[in-house]
Amino acid sequence: MVMLTTQMKQEIRAAASKRRTFAIISHPDAGKTTLTEKLLLYSGLLRTAGMVGARKSGKLAASDWMEMEQERGISITASAMQFPYKETIINVLDTPGHQDFCEDTYRTLTAADSAIMVIDAAKGVETQTRKLFEVCRLRKIPVLTFINKMDLPGRLPLDLLSEVEDVLGIHASAMNWPVGSGSEFLGVVEREKRRLLRYTKMASAGAAKPMVTEIGLDDSGYVEEIPHHLREELEHDLELLDVAGNPFSREEFQAGNVTPAFFGSALTNFGVEVFFDAFVDFAPSAEARSADANDGTEITIDPVEVPFSAYVFKLQANMNPRHRDSTAFLRVCSGRFERDMVVKHHRVKSDVRLSRPHSMVAKDRNTLDVAYPGDVIGIINPGVFQIGDTISLTDGFNYKPLPQFQSEVFARVRPTDTTKRKAFDKGIEQLALEGAIQIFKSLDGLEFFVGAVGKLQFDVLAFRLRSEYRVETQLDILAYESSAWLEGEVKTFKAPSDALVVTDQRERPVVLFRSPWSKNFARERNSDHALLEMG
Ligand code: G4P
Repeated sequence: MVMLTTQMKQEIRAAASKRRTFAIISHPDAGKTTLTEKLLLYSGLLRTAGMVGARKSGKLAASDWMEMEQERGISITASAMQFPYKETIINVLDTPGHQDFCEDTYRTLTAADSAIMVIDAAKGVETQTRKLFEVCRLRKIPVLTFINKMDLPGRLPLDLLSEVEDVLGIHASAMNWPVGSGSEFLGVVEREKRRLLRYTKMASAGAAKPMVTEIGLDDSGYVEEIPHHLREELEHDLELLDVAGNPFSREEFQAGNVTPAFFGSALTNFGVEVFFDAFVDFAPSAEARSADANDGTEITIDPVEVPFSAYVFKLQANMNPRHRDSTAFLRVCSGRFERDMVVKHHRVKSDVRLSRPHSMVAKDRNTLDVAYPGDVIGIINPGVFQIGDTISLTDGFNYKPLPQFQSEVFARVRPTDTTKRKAFDKGIEQLALEGAIQIFKSLDGLEFFVGAVGKLQFDVLAFRLRSEYRVETQLDILAYESSAWLEGEVKTFKAPSDALVVTDQRERPVVLFRSPWSKNFARERNSDHALLEMG
């Protein structure tokens, strides 16, 4: 029996309470990359900003698997970075902004303890932000809001807050307030401290920290800091917020009922450091997680009391084209992890050694010797890990299974050169393991189909098969547009004539439908069966 001593628990508690593990959610172009880069700048890791962004625009050498990400200007794969920020250790999970990747994003968000929502001040709450916010709400992840691009002409701050409330259905509480906007954006007022932070751009613009003058709103010098018309506007807004604004409380924030809102400009760094400081202050560290005990009961795993445990939330193959390896990303939920630790792999019921663990900063891998609750560890996957797997020192439970979404686009896919069949099968299998696509088989086992949540995943599939497995593919899109897992006897299921019954990777029966009408019809005709949308 593995036990933790009081001293070890103290160490774990102290280390875990320093961790902030979160995702930045936003619509493409709102400024997620820029803000992430500024987090690196303020943490002292970058002397000048531009590293993350440069990678994105192709100015730095990048691995092959990022090619497509660059071509499309979107973030396709979610990865994790770890680095210190002041007194804390940051684990930032990158969530892809494109709608077709919701499943990957969903799984990544299970590893986050909080989220930062970035909103473009000119555009307000956009579709992808809304979808990602919904996932946070479902998972009860507390969300902080950063209203970005205040240096450009945008909408009125009060309108933006109302939009957050109306569209997302969460109370927004302004923690700071912008002074002016567009070319007149001078700084922010920290409401609680009644303090103005007046910024002055440095010659190098966003690549360096701006000069900041701090002055109390009740200090005599304040009047000279801001032009009259901006001061009038500011005082009006502040009064209005005091009377009618939403109050902020940590409890309500942690319960997901209120989002603290901050204004700033990631590009010019105005309002950025105060935001990060508030973020590390408010954002929770790892909390207890529920799990299913082997006897079927639901239990709670305390991050400090339970020896090392973690689960796999993401698999990513071929991140380095020189090494044909696959990385499993593990989220540490309890205890202390050590390099080369031998742990119990609950699904396969055997021991595995966790060798070569690493964390990432931008494109660099760093070897990890120890890790604590909240940390994300990359492990070279010797082929034993699947998404959702639980590992621990103690065994006896499994973290909640990660939900799978039903595919909405389907295709028949085959290698154009039949001699490449073996490489093709290997590639398809790997991508299905990563959860990028689903594979289906006809009931007679003769035909193969692939399914995905969106069409873009098929492009990724073809791209990755070409670049990583050297296989060209032909893909014929099929007319099915939705699917559902079938519960009940397959033989007695009366399928509509335009539907098709297949099995998924886990041999579970799935029905593919051509229209919502057909799905409804199937439901009506088969009252002894259930058609499930999410598993
Ligand atoms: P994303 O990851 O959310 O997709 O957005 P990203 O940070 O790449 O930002 C999208 C564009 O918006 C970039 O410009 C970026 O420089 C700009 N941007 C981000 N934050 C701010 C801000 O606070 N103010 C202003 N004015 N612009 C901002 P780009 O021209 O598309 O790319 P780049 O050549 O600058 O990298």
